[in-house]
Amino acid sequence: KRIAVLCSGGGTNLQALFDAQANGTLKSGFVCLVIANKKDAYALKRAEGQRIATLVIEKHKGQASLFEQRLSEALKENSIDLVVLAGFLCILSPSFVRNYPNRIINIHPSLIPSFCGKGYYGLTVHRAALEYGVKVTGATVHYVNEIPDGGAIIAQKAVSVLPGDTPESLQKRVMEQAEWVLLPQCVETLCAERGAEMDLKQLLKGNRY
Ligand code: GRF
Repeated sequence: KRIAVLCSGGGTNLQALFDAQANGTLKSGFVCLVIANKKDAYALKRAEGQRIATLVIEKHKGQASLFEQRLSEALKENSIDLVVLAGFLCILSPSFVRNYPNRIINIHPSLIPSFCGKGYYGLTVHRAALEYGVKVTGATVHYVNEIPDGGAIIAQKAVSVLPGDTPESLQKRVMEQAEWVLLPQCVETLCAERGAEMDLKQLLKGNRY
């Protein structure tokens, strides 16, 4: 399976996918394209270090449809099977996501449906969790549909909130203990399942059942 990862920033989740490829836990899919909406996204450097193709597609005000058109073209040209949003800070339009049913997934740093949706990203998520006083938080991998952070949940991993946590310390623990573990696992499972589905279809076709 051919995977594209869309990022806006540091790309530590992208790195987790590269590491999983290197240690063999991600073997049914391969990250072959990294797209960023900002040219200074450090995720691009990580991809270049792995000799993976990169693309910068900026989203200019009032030009959302041009942005999405370029995105679609890139996905098509690279025969992408699965799109992973990993710290991608652009919301994709309903018409765009409808064209990729169950083919776009996102990682969110909370246990959805808590602390998610528009406006909840990065440290704001962890700040809100601490302000609310939850004792457990975590990460969620979910399908992307037309509602921000509203698609079907694929998997979640819980992380304890500890006394004295700051948004920064909580973010670090959620990344280390949940995000970087959960995302590669989910990507492998999805790619393996889809590979098997396709093999089965081929088999049935070949045997004229
Ligand atoms: C992660 O916390 C991810 O869950 C969220 O944005 C952050 C991106 O981090 N959507 P990185 O770019 O993968 O380091």
